[in-house]
Amino acid sequence: MPKTISGFSKFNKLEKINWLVSAFFNDDENVKDILKQYWNKNEILQDLHDDFIENTISNFYLPFAVAPNFVINGKAYAIPMTIEESSVVAAASLVAKFWSTRGGFKANVISTTKIGQVHFMYKGDKVELEKHFNSKKEQFYKATEEITKNMRKRGGGILDIELRDKTADLENYYQLHVTFETVDSMGANFINSCLEAIAKEFEKETIQIVMCILSNYVPECLVRAEVSCKVDDLYAENSEVLAQKFVQAIQIANAEPHRAVTHNKGIMNGVDAVVIATGNDFRAIEAGAHAFASKTGKYKSLTNATIENGIFKFWIEIPLALGTVGGLTKLHPLSKLSLELLENPSAKELMEIIAVAGLAQNFAALRALTTTGIQKGHMKMHLTNIIKQLGASEEDKTFLIDYFEHKTVTHNAVVEAYNKLVENK
Ligand code: MEV
Repeated sequence: MPKTISGFSKFNKLEKINWLVSAFFNDDENVKDILKQYWNKNEILQDLHDDFIENTISNFYLPFAVAPNFVINGKAYAIPMTIEESSVVAAASLVAKFWSTRGGFKANVISTTKIGQVHFMYKGDKVELEKHFNSKKEQFYKATEEITKNMRKRGGGILDIELRDKTADLENYYQLHVTFETVDSMGANFINSCLEAIAKEFEKETIQIVMCILSNYVPECLVRAEVSCKVDDLYAENSEVLAQKFVQAIQIANAEPHRAVTHNKGIMNGVDAVVIATGNDFRAIEAGAHAFASKTGKYKSLTNATIENGIFKFWIEIPLALGTVGGLTKLHPLSKLSLELLENPSAKELMEIIAVAGLAQNFAALRALTTTGIQKGHMKMHLTNIIKQLGASEEDKTFLIDYFEHKTVTHNAVVEAYNKLVENK
């Protein structure tokens, strides 16, 4: 059976599965069962999921959890999180509770604009190009009137269109740099449609349009979240020294990109989990956040902390282009439910919530790293996973958790302890 095929997308779902199982799994019926096991019994719901992408053969579950007790700007939230990493939700919940008794999180949106660009090549006289641009500028707004009509009603639209000379970076390269406000939608389709209409209006023989696309670098769609408390209220004992270590951990991330990447990865554990749960585009968020972390030319921490006059302050600034309408947000029943759980936030409010989720995750990681070490918490979750894999009874599970309280958890050690336990019964 050849492992390549033409016309695959025209097959129905069963035909696709049959072909795959023949070509790649030696006709193993078990593979079909695994795939079908994840089909939703509700056909309408399954059809909805099938249509999100091409060539769907099944669903891929990720856990959907909540982290309660987040207090943000005085309002209580239970934050929905979709993630496979075992410690993330537990960490978020612990940190939420911790800060809820210390004034909660404060968050505010700094800016909300997004960028799209028409990239083009032009070999002629720059003054002529500027003349052409200026003569067309009004037309750009007219040509996009139909597309921007609803957005303008909601307070958004095209804010500015600039001609930018990029020839110092690349020969003959210019761009139309367009600034947008997309209010409660992430706005990718809106921005790209506007850009294509603008490009059509702008194009002429001497101008070669290369492409029109939004930018996922959104430093002007920025949110800040913060916590603060007396240093003495931070730890049960040795607060001064531990708070200093916490601040040093961030200084290290700022000095050393190898550490900064892991540091920011931990932040994205919290950010992505909520981004996914609310039906937003986590790849866009990731790309934008990491680019922002490198804005000085060196990759640095997205968070910061200070100790001044006995007060510990810890904050994050992160660009987040999010939507609470459009895209998958209301189409996926669980994203819709997530947004309902958050009491249908505006995109701005969602930016604040997600920045908080990232800050909380970084707080949990740095607190663990600079005190007990990260493995203690991780291994506790790892231990329960191994115990589950072994099919241990509830009684054996309790015994094993107790047994490993002060011992190092490794896969082998758990298997060995479990086998001994079973043998001695
Ligand atoms: C693991 O997913 C995330 C951490 O490595 C983050 C960090 O080191 O700051 C714990």
